[in-house]
Amino acid sequence: MADNIILIGFMAVGKGRTARALAAATGRFAVDTDDLIESMVKMKIRKIFARHGEDHFRALEQRAADWLERQVSATIVSTGGGFFMVNNLHRLGRVIYLHSSLEGILAAIRSHPNGEKKIAKRPLLQDIDRARLLYDQRLPLYRAACDTEINVEGREIAEVATEIAALIA
Ligand code: S3P
Repeated sequence: MADNIILIGFMAVGKGRTARALAAATGRFAVDTDDLIESMVKMKIRKIFARHGEDHFRALEQRAADWLERQVSATIVSTGGGFFMVNNLHRLGRVIYLHSSLEGILAAIRSHPNGEKKIAKRPLLQDIDRARLLYDQRLPLYRAACDTEINVEGREIAEVATEIAALIA
């Protein structure tokens, strides 16, 4: 198993921001699987879903996971909300699930100055009822997939990063 830290969790829970704070706190690099995919195909996630569909996007996630397994170590990896379904997740590193209720996530987005943009770029967050179903379906799967769960609801990113840094020290 590679010695990366893999952050999983629902859309917009703060995986990317936590990864960057954790990178700063530990002196490691951080990469984001959505960013890797967007750069590989030179297309935004929203467009990949619209043009090619979700199955195609999931295949790109698997390609990103295969690349990470071969090439990356000692790195903080933030992931898209469905990335945890790749077939080599545990070979990539220690898997940490960032948990918040859906209400907590939505409240944080709504109070953010760029909230509209954060919703617009996420195809699976366009319909709140469907997002709620997805959240309920995924919650037990995140819990089953992770090595460690961290509650992030209502907490500062820096505080969460400090907790994870202590865990991996
Ligand atoms: C997805 C989450 C998104 C992105 C894509 C699909 C999902 O990433 O990978 O829109 O299936 O939950 P974020 O978790 O960063 O929103």
